[in-house]
This record gives sequence, C-alpha cells and structure tokens, in this order.
Amino acid sequence: MKIIAHRGASTYAPENTIAAFKKAIEQGADAIELDVRLSKDNIPVICHDATINRTSNGKGYIHNLTLKEVKKHDFGSYFHKKYKNETIPTLEEVLQFIGNTPIILHIELKNGPIIPENLEQKVLDVVYRHNFQGRVVYSSFDHLSLKRLAMLDPQAKIGLLFHMNLIHLFDYISNTGINIHSIHPNHFYVDKEMIHQARNRNVEVNIYTVNNLKIALEYKKMGVDGLITNDPLILT
Ligand code: G3P
Ligand code: CA
Repeated sequence: MKIIAHRGASTYAPENTIAAFKKAIEQGADAIELDVRLSKDNIPVICHDATINRTSNGKGYIHNLTLKEVKKHDFGSYFHKKYKNETIPTLEEVLQFIGNTPIILHIELKNGPIIPENLEQKVLDVVYRHNFQGRVVYSSFDHLSLKRLAMLDPQAKIGLLFHMNLIHLFDYISNTGINIHSIHPNHFYVDKEMIHQARNRNVEVNIYTVNNLKIALEYKKMGVDGLITNDPLILT
C-alpha cells in the first residue's frame, strides 16, 4: 500500500508548505497530495481553503489576492513559531523543490467559491514546463474540472475524488466519459466489493484520510492501493 502524504507530512509541519513536502520526502512517502488554486493573477498556488485565514497571518480569498500579495504572509506560525518563514508555495516552486526525487504528486484541483475557467490549463502548463507529466495524478471533487483536464490532456492520470457513497459508482464512472486511473473515496465508504470492482476494471483505490494505524492496517489487508494520510510514518 502506497503512502500519500496529505498536504505533505501535515502531522509534522504546516500543511501545503515546502516544509511539509520536505518532511514527507524525508519520511519516505511514495507520493505527496496537495491542493491547488489560482491567485488573482492566475498563478497556481498551494492552499487547501478558499481563504488564507486559517493557515496564515493574513485574511482574504486567494482569488482576490495577487501572488505578490499572498506571498507577504506567514503560512507557518499558526502551526509552530519555528515555521514563521514558510510562505504559500506556487505549484512551480513545488515541482522545482521535488525535482528528480522519485516522488509522485497528487494534485487536487480546488474550485470554488468561484470556478476559474483556466485552472486546469494553468496547472497543466506548469506540469509540462517542468516535465512532470507521468509523475502526476490529478484529482478533484469537481468532476467537470476533471473532465476539462482530461480533454486538455488525454494522457493525464485522473483520480475521481468523492465524499459520499455514489449510487452505481462504476456506471457513474463510465458515464463521465473520463478514462479514470483511480478512485479516491472517503475511507468510510470503502469495502471489499468496491475494491474488487475497481480491480476488475484496472482502477486503483486511494483512500482518504486515515491517520490511525489500526484502521490503516485494516485497509491494507482489504487491498487498498494508496493511503492518503497526514502521517507518512503511520505504518512504521
Ligand atoms: O485527496 C483527498 C483529500 O485531500 C480530500 O479532502 O478536504 O483534505 O482536500 P481535503
Ligand atoms: Ca486535498
């Protein structure tokens, strides 16, 4: 079972920062999951929430702030004062940081409260500029966003992210018309039958978010392919 560091090693360092990604690599994660949004000037930046209020010393919606404005803020101190120099990373900075390490990147496309029309293209531009195609899985709760991305890049690996049980999940997947690489369900809704069905279709199962060893081991036994966790050391 692959370990996918959720927002980086977010148990140990402020989520979605270079410090958290560095920690995930040091701790031996197979992949890093991060959340991407567009700044006001259309730069892909890494932040889970639509606003910077919770994870920085600033306030406001990312889509109302330029990169220069959002970069002024401290994205580390809310977690611990030793991280006071962490700023919001751009996707570009993350790819530069990861470089040639063997790590895989799970890029979650975050839309809302506005739906930027060009998020998918802007993300692809950065990925291609750095030759990361093939090292990325794109996921989103917004399946139209995944569809747009798949149309722009038919080779892209697409992970279908969902909160709730979906009725006739695999019929739904067929109806999207997207060539799905993996499903990313909330772990509460995963059972042996779902894994069996996915396996028959050559679709991987990556579950979120599990931070408890006993639960992680149960899913490992069940045959889950990837565990999205805040703690890359969970199985050690
Ligand atoms: O990729 C799974 C997980 O990150 C989805 O939930 O809210 O943490 O982005 P969230
Ligand atoms: Ca996420």
